[in-house]
Amino acid sequence: MGIPRIQLAPGLEISRVLTGLWQIADLERDGRTLDLDAAAAAMAPYVDAGLTTFDMADHYGSAEVVAGRFAAAVRPGAPVQRLTKWVPEPGPVSAADVRAAVDRACSRLQTEVIDLLQFHAWTFADPRWLDAMWLLEAARDAGRIRAIGVTNFDTAHLRVAIASGIRVVSNQISGSVIDRRFTTRLGPYAQAQGVGLLCYGTVLGGFLSEKWLGAPEPDWDRLETWSQMKYGRFIRTAGGWEPFQGVLRALHAVATRHGVPIATVASRWVLDQPGVAGVIVGARLSHSAHVADTARMFAFSLDDNDRA
Ligand SMILES: NC(=O)c1ccc[n+]([C@@H]2O[C@H](COP(=O)([O-])OP(=O)(O)OC[C@H]3O[C@@H](n4cnc5c(N)ncnc54)[C@H](OP(=O)(O)O)[C@@H]3O)[C@@H](O)[C@H]2O)c1
Repeated sequence: MGIPRIQLAPGLEISRVLTGLWQIADLERDGRTLDLDAAAAAMAPYVDAGLTTFDMADHYGSAEVVAGRFAAAVRPGAPVQRLTKWVPEPGPVSAADVRAAVDRACSRLQTEVIDLLQFHAWTFADPRWLDAMWLLEAARDAGRIRAIGVTNFDTAHLRVAIASGIRVVSNQISGSVIDRRFTTRLGPYAQAQGVGLLCYGTVLGGFLSEKWLGAPEPDWDRLETWSQMKYGRFIRTAGGWEPFQGVLRALHAVATRHGVPIATVASRWVLDQPGVAGVIVGARLSHSAHVADTARMFAFSLDDNDRA
């Protein structure tokens, strides 16, 4: 079965599984250099499998540059959707700041129009976050951005943005079997408003996989990736390694029943929640790939017994 698609906004259809490129910044950590052409070439198997949508940000190292090279040189004209983020410093934001951010992203992505620009506010205590969103609206009206998204907005602030007239089409948030905060209020609200949730952390940096099933507790100070460090904190906050092993065993039982890997079940559960438009699975391009497992997310469905 192919990868299902969903329309986020007029003229913007995405694959329901997105590939996240924060991991590029990690591969470039501590001054390491990444072969950007090799990374761009490594995007091809994703696109060929129907995983045509990539998630980036202005601060994800060379991620935008890699996606720009893919679109310009590896597969010119390929139907890919390149979503990025703008994460301004807290404080006042001017129209010139927005122009500069949009110009920079367009130049790095090698495009005239940004498919989706997702806004992140460091703090909502300073109400000028809403001014910044109005400037994004103007950029959208000027044709520089196809659609506006947000990231890490809670229900209350998403409500403020929408009630103020900002045409928000998506909200990128954390969501996994151990982080279900979005299922109580945000999911139903987003669904009612036609805002698509794009969930990250669905495989907890790879912790939700056979590799960690029955494994001893890792040395939390010696993890390999930023993503593992982040979700290691989630696991400890949610009860620690032993309870987490219980989660892994339950997922393993479901995965075995369907003949798919644990990670595939974990992401599929998130994808099935109300309001969720897509799940973002991070990829260490040209280092490791899980395209086949990811594509199998649609080869089965979860029933009530599985969910329980
Ligand atoms: N808006 C925000 O604040 C925010 C925050 C975090 C992330 N994000 C977005 O979400 C994306 C995902 O990042 P994340 O940190 O949440 O990571 P994630 O998707 O939970 O984990 C990615 C890692 O999981 C492993 N993995 C993926 N599929 C697997 C499979 N089928 N079987 C086994 N392992 C598998 C891979 O590890 P190996 O490479 O070791 O194989 C991969 O590098 C980011 O790139 C970014 O686009 C956004």
